Amino acid sequence: ELEGDERRFQDRIDAGIRVEPEDWMPESYRRTLVRQISQHAHSEVVGMLPEGNWITRAPSLLRKATLLAKVQDEGGHGLYLYAAAETLGVSRDDLIDALHAGKAKYSSIFNYPTLTWADIGAIGWLVDGAAIINQIPLCRCSYGPYGRAMVRVCKEESFHQRQGYDIMTRLAQGSEAQRRMAQDALNRWWWPAVMMFGPPDGESVHSAQSAAWRIKLHSNDDLRQRFIDQTVPQAELIGLTIPDADLRWNEERGHYDIGPIDWEEFYSVVRGDGPCNRERLAARKSAWDRGAWVRDAAAAHAAKHAGEQK
Ligand code: 3HC
Repeated sequence: ELEGDERRFQDRIDAGIRVEPEDWMPESYRRTLVRQISQHAHSEVVGMLPEGNWITRAPSLLRKATLLAKVQDEGGHGLYLYAAAETLGVSRDDLIDALHAGKAKYSSIFNYPTLTWADIGAIGWLVDGAAIINQIPLCRCSYGPYGRAMVRVCKEESFHQRQGYDIMTRLAQGSEAQRRMAQDALNRWWWPAVMMFGPPDGESVHSAQSAAWRIKLHSNDDLRQRFIDQTVPQAELIGLTIPDADLRWNEERGHYDIGPIDWEEFYSVVRGDGPCNRERLAARKSAWDRGAWVRDAAAAHAAKHAGEQK
């Protein structure tokens, strides 16, 4: 039974009053937000790697410029979210150390390889599509800085999703080889995107408490279902087939029924045994080390000009 500060805190949450950095909050609420926001930020930064692989290989200047803009947006989302996490009294360096030490997670979806140009379409369409469904409710989450950061992130994600679906549309309606490439990408990215929403509700360790604190406004399975219901018609519209023989519209439920999800694969990727986990972490550590001189130069410059009138 809650009492005192905890009771008053929960009453404010239940009344839909936003929590701001200077407000009293239970240490467990603060820790949960640091965990989720930092892992969200890590996901954005690691997420630049699979797409970055195709910036120099894009099929046209327009596609190259569009992909470059999207990858830059993702980096910006990461910095935005590290800043939101810092309002909870943690240092960005500590958060990044936790990622490099394998102590902090990032989204499972970024541990898959981008084998063809169609993968860039599948990522924008499916991964950013899934991210929007997960991030729209977060705009209304109880922690002010996180919710406000999500508003801008969601606006940019819509562009990311549209450009991905445009790539898939053009390929699906192109030559036979292009259509096959688009279908192959959908076959490889569909199930990892479905898993991205997290474990089934019955196995989710944080959902109940995150829901009570109005951090998680919809359950993993509810958002997963929303993604499936929205995406299946989009695949059909461009003549691609969802790789799930058990997929069917269930009139009674008003939703699509899907086949079994391979949770073994999900947990293996989350544990670090996915196709690209080691490569992704090595790339991040190497970028961090190679970028040390930039951080040192910026710090030296700031120290030299500290106190000067702007
Ligand atoms: N990948 C890796 N780990 C995952 C995961 C996934 N897809 N889904 C769940 N997990 C982890 C959780 O982090 C938790 O582990 P932890 O205690 O070490 O943090 C564990 O599995 C149990 O899962 P829960 O459902 O109990 O955990 P949460 O309540 O935190 O729910 C979540 C998981 C739905 C991912 C939630 O953390 C969330 O909404 N996070 C914010 C959104 C986010 O991070 N999206 C990721 C992608 S960002 C992106 O796609 C960029 C886009 O622009 C391309």
